[in-house]
Amino acid sequence: MTKKPKRIGILTAGGDCPGLNAAIRGVGKTAIVKYNMEVIGISSGFLGLINKDYIPLEEKMLSGILTVGGTILGTSREKPFKKTGHLSIDKPKLIKEHYDELGLDCLVCIGGNGTQRTATGLVEHGLNIIGIPKTIDNDVWGTDETFGFDSALWIATDAIDRLHSTANSHKRIMVIEVMGHHAGWLTLYAGMAGGGDVILIPELEYSMKRVNEYLLERANRKKPYSIVVVAEGIKKHKQDSAASYIAEQIEKGTGIETRKTILGYIQRGGSPSPYDRLLATSFGAHAVELIAKEDYGKMVTRKGDHISDIPLKEVGDKVRLVPKGHPLIQRAMGLDICLGAK
Ligand code: F6P
Repeated sequence: MTKKPKRIGILTAGGDCPGLNAAIRGVGKTAIVKYNMEVIGISSGFLGLINKDYIPLEEKMLSGILTVGGTILGTSREKPFKKTGHLSIDKPKLIKEHYDELGLDCLVCIGGNGTQRTATGLVEHGLNIIGIPKTIDNDVWGTDETFGFDSALWIATDAIDRLHSTANSHKRIMVIEVMGHHAGWLTLYAGMAGGGDVILIPELEYSMKRVNEYLLERANRKKPYSIVVVAEGIKKHKQDSAASYIAEQIEKGTGIETRKTILGYIQRGGSPSPYDRLLATSFGAHAVELIAKEDYGKMVTRKGDHISDIPLKEVGDKVRLVPKGHPLIQRAMGLDICLGAK
């Protein structure tokens, strides 16, 4: 007797990033073409499973999306395990009911830390799940890299490159704020790639006094301008943004004209880099191989040169931060880049 083809659902949850469509295509095409599976696209993250909002995905609907930014499925920050005002609705139970009604054999959850946490909770409610890590923040525990990071690195680096000429023309200090939530990956990498003079990340304590001394020393050495790259997650003392706080403190402390740029959502938009297209496609294809083997409850990872996977429950509540001994931190110190150390 031939086995019934598997029916799988895909959703994208949390903040979007470049490469989501490449991952959807990687999952969908491998599932349909290689394994003859049926694929359902769930709309707007976990909200789509709560509201039964979905569309069947055919192979031809997955053509032409590899290079497109955002997500064709939509996303949301819906957290079904978070207690809200509507105490009467048991969202995880509803999700399980709708998963069963849809006849799903597995749900592929493409998202960051919050999504992988929700996915782990749903495994405990009896769903078969495969997680795929994405985020420009690069902070998902258990994988060396998430897709979205490389594209955002290009964007942030390009922005820093462009600040050099205007900073030089006006002999100013330019402060640029980079995303990353509580992690400094994007700031450290873009700061180094863009030739930042000061790089401040949440993982390293900084002293404003030291930063200002360093900037004054540069001015005394007739360096015409300075670029200060700050992570959104650094301590900002009641100011609305890290860039506002740092720029204000620098101008006060050095007397040098200072401007700020908050890069914001530009970092998450647009077409994925070639590297992210490859990573997202490989993650998607590996997810389907796990489903074909019925090896559920896993999150796809990249470890060194290998695409691999780990049990979702190992990821838990952990967040991947920049280790204090990271080689780029050592290199930055060797180049006399100021990391704000007290
Ligand atoms: O995608 C990750 C991220 O960009 C973080 O760096 C940032 O703090 C957060 O999302 C903001 O996104 P939203 O406004 O969509 O919650």
